[in-house]
Amino acid sequence: MFIGLDLGTSGLKAILVDSEGSIVASADASMRTRNPAKGWSEQDPQEWVDACDKVMKSLGSRCEPHLKAVKAIGISGHMHGATLIDAAGEVLRPCILWNDTRSSAEAAALDAIPEMREITANIVFPGFTAPKLAWVRQHEPDTWEKVAKVLLPKDFLRYWLTGEYISDMSDSAGTSWMDVKKRDWSERALEVTGMRRDQMPELVEGSDVGGEVRTELRQRWGLSENVVVAGGGGDNAAAACGVGAISEGAGFVSLGTSGVLLAARDSFAPAPDTAVHTFCHAVPDRWYQMGVILSATDSLNWLSRTLGQSAGDLAGLLPDQISGPSSLTFLPYLSGERTPHNSATVRGSLVGLDVATEPVDMVQSVMEGVGFALRDSLEALRATGAELSDVLAVGGGTRSRFWLRSLATILNIPLQIPAGGEFGAALGAARLAMCAGSGATVEDVMTRPEISETVEPDADLVRAYDDHYQKYRALYPALKAHFA
Ligand code: XUL
Repeated sequence: MFIGLDLGTSGLKAILVDSEGSIVASADASMRTRNPAKGWSEQDPQEWVDACDKVMKSLGSRCEPHLKAVKAIGISGHMHGATLIDAAGEVLRPCILWNDTRSSAEAAALDAIPEMREITANIVFPGFTAPKLAWVRQHEPDTWEKVAKVLLPKDFLRYWLTGEYISDMSDSAGTSWMDVKKRDWSERALEVTGMRRDQMPELVEGSDVGGEVRTELRQRWGLSENVVVAGGGGDNAAAACGVGAISEGAGFVSLGTSGVLLAARDSFAPAPDTAVHTFCHAVPDRWYQMGVILSATDSLNWLSRTLGQSAGDLAGLLPDQISGPSSLTFLPYLSGERTPHNSATVRGSLVGLDVATEPVDMVQSVMEGVGFALRDSLEALRATGAELSDVLAVGGGTRSRFWLRSLATILNIPLQIPAGGEFGAALGAARLAMCAGSGATVEDVMTRPEISETVEPDADLVRAYDDHYQKYRALYPALKAHFA
């Protein structure tokens, strides 16, 4: 038996899988995010620990004999968060999360150092970890002085589980301190941010062993001896493992709070100027690239709050079939944008409003706008040489047929829907645990899931959506000055 833990932004998910990788049980615990100032987004690491204890106890109470048979635990989590630890192993301040924008000035300053993109293979985005430390140095110097270790969220959970300071390559690639080609911390990137290697955790591959569960916790949860914790992965790399996207051509599109279009890569082909992310995969010798848009289902949630109707009800206003693009155009930059604009200041727009515009028109344009933003990511990925021939669609937004069909048509790529539910990053984490705990090979474990159906692009409408995409693209340069 193996356990996968995924520390998501809104909650922790645990799944128990058997040696075939089939899910036996699952448990969830929710998490709070605090926004103490505009653009700030923080979590209390103690809540992760409490949530982990809760889900493990929940699995234990329902599956006691299975828990005794657990060989390894895999961990995944939201990326880029800065959890600051002092020399005594105590947490110094709340974790600053991936969607916190307070350090955009620090990010721009680091990004302007030419070697940074060269070393880290990426733009230094405001959400990444290094600029957060630059912010702490400037605004909370007493805290900065005391930082003995910086841990990513899932690695703080590992620290609690094992007592060890370890991270994996895929999550660490999003810190702006890693040489993503060499899969090691970069002395130079650390130095320009005033950090040292000894403040970084030790690095392992995601599918290798990264610690052993502490005796006290083993006894509390009814685990046997020698339960190892896998290196694990950042949530996107782990999700890619969960859907078997580990080789060239395979990928997924995710309609979650943020939107992701991810392509697995056999080789290292960075292209930071396109604003795609190039990160180490959670398995050895592989990388992945992705376009990230900051507001996917979050855009629909915004509309839902604005119109006072649930997102589900709004989605229900649309038919299952598509019949061509809306006359409105929505730019989903509600929290700024990563790919392709790398702008912390741009905000969303709804263009073309008419006295006759109804809520249903807005819902359609919001879904299409998210699709166009992901088309921008597709173009950026293609510019790096990435191929996307085998693409799964995952995330809450895929429950809308309209959204799926319009997205397939806007991207002009067939989208495959996994059968039997979707366990994303938690399943990927469990799969990494299978590799670390049983010695199974990556190729044997990271298979593609069974597909329930393929949503094809509507050939008759590809052209119309393409024309509208060109109008969408023209809007950002036209509106940019407004947000400067
Ligand atoms: C990836 C990113 C998000 C977080 C939260 O770069 O910022 O996908 O990992 O899920």
